Amino acid sequence: MKLIIINGPNLNLLGKREPEIYGSETFKDIFKNLQNKFSTIELSYFQSNIEGEIIDTLHEVGFEYDGIILNAAAYTHTSVGIGDAVKGIETPVVEVHISNVHAREEFRHKSYISANAKGVIFGFGIKGYELAIQSFL
Ligand code: DQA
Repeated sequence: MKLIIINGPNLNLLGKREPEIYGSETFKDIFKNLQNKFSTIELSYFQSNIEGEIIDTLHEVGFEYDGIILNAAAYTHTSVGIGDAVKGIETPVVEVHISNVHAREEFRHKSYISANAKGVIFGFGIKGYELAIQSFL
């Protein structure tokens, strides 16, 4: 099984950025743990702070991979382009948010992705990535 985790803007700062919300682990460590835990899965990772690069990656993997785990971060709430890309590809997308976006500011309640996602996981911290992988198994 081939899965990819795609992280959006500012998630390269995990471990340093607002640790009270996003935790103190770097994504490098989180990813290493996931690879160890799910060693039979071909798991890859892409992060970008650039909207178009996220769309390009969705196009690249979206007709080939078995699943996409997408935390589009702030673009979740603003990007019609990423939402359209999720709608246009064949690979199922599980939307993940580390924090409980519905317990935060109103602008975080809107998602351009959810309507076309296979499912949405939010509020379980970085454990959400693991839950998303499990959902594909
Ligand atoms: C986030 C929630 C978004 O609102 C925020 O902009 C992020 C991270 C999360 O994982 O909780 O950057 O997607």
